[in-house]
Amino acid sequence: MKKSKFNLANDNKKNDETSRIVCLGIETTAHTFGVSIAVEENGQGKILSNVRDSYTTKKGGMIPNQAADHHVDVCDVVLKKSLDEAKIKIDDVDVICFSQGPGIGHTLRIGAFFARCLAHMFGKPLVGVNHCIAHLEIARLVTDATDPVLLYVSGANTQVIAYEGQKYRIFGETLDIGIGNFLDCFARELDLGFPGGPHVYELSLKSKKYIELPYVVKGMDVSFGGLLTNLKQKIHKSAFGKEYTKEDLCFSAQETTFAMLVEVAERALNHCDKRELVLGGGVACNKRLQEMCHKMCKDAGFKFYVPEPQYLIDNAAMIAWLGLLEFKVGNILNVEDSKDSKMLPYWRTDDVIVNWR
Ligand code: ATP
Ligand code: FE2
Repeated sequence: MKKSKFNLANDNKKNDETSRIVCLGIETTAHTFGVSIAVEENGQGKILSNVRDSYTTKKGGMIPNQAADHHVDVCDVVLKKSLDEAKIKIDDVDVICFSQGPGIGHTLRIGAFFARCLAHMFGKPLVGVNHCIAHLEIARLVTDATDPVLLYVSGANTQVIAYEGQKYRIFGETLDIGIGNFLDCFARELDLGFPGGPHVYELSLKSKKYIELPYVVKGMDVSFGGLLTNLKQKIHKSAFGKEYTKEDLCFSAQETTFAMLVEVAERALNHCDKRELVLGGGVACNKRLQEMCHKMCKDAGFKFYVPEPQYLIDNAAMIAWLGLLEFKVGNILNVEDSKDSKMLPYWRTDDVIVNWR
């Protein structure tokens, strides 16, 4: 990462206790286009606005170029709404941040382009942040957790992350698909539309009948691919043989996968010797997953935190907040060099040196 003319790491004015830093964050790693304004005033962080517009479908999954078209369609309106809600003018913004990766290339490109245009046009510094780390940092802002293990459960990602030696390290993760992708594919097979997680949850509430399913935990890693194949076979059978109801399958799929996630989260907490668990990612909105994590933490003596849903699903507030933290230590991209701000679809959580903690 090159340093641009906007290196504020040594700018005493900004490091002053009474200073105010205003940050505009842009999120486009997948289905959500979001813009948020975060501020730090007298050492206190605050989210002033967190506006999003998400691509959805009634049937089938997400088509990447359609999601990108969606982001192009809504970007100006979302930007204006976010500035208006925060009562901030673009001139008052100190820094523009965007989620540089990981994510879907089609949609990441829109965010990187939009952010660089704004930085250029308005003469603002530009910060590219790691989306996965942003999930953890927003949890540290909006809950009382200080040094938590994050169970990060979204569409593409399923990771157990904790801070250790200047990095957010991945202690466990999925060996194939993310839990959200699993739920979305399963829901698509049941003709439930995208995103599938909330539909699966609604149907699960109507059953208490557990159907035995494959349970795959390897150390602190999990795998959902075989389970998805198994469920597809059962759905197929139910269509013809009427052996399994949608409700029983939804209930059992949740119970199995969430038990796997709780098991690896508990193992990571003990392994890392941490005392706090936080949830992040869209699947963390699921009340049953929250309940199971809560019970494990209560039994084992850990503290458990769930940020409110607007900070769990993909959101620009976490991008703005992490961007602000990184801006303060001078992690600034060179706006003049387009390669410096290019998207990083495969950017790993543990590739980032955490120099702001
Ligand atoms: P990331 O880029 O971090 O991988 P993402 O693009 O998958 O994130 P998120 O908003 O974090 O976006 O998560 C979306 C996922 O969350 C979808 O798979 C969706 O089905 C799932 N989801 C949303 N609400 C719920 C819910 N209440 N229960 C279960 N899953 C849910
Ligand atoms: Fe996310």
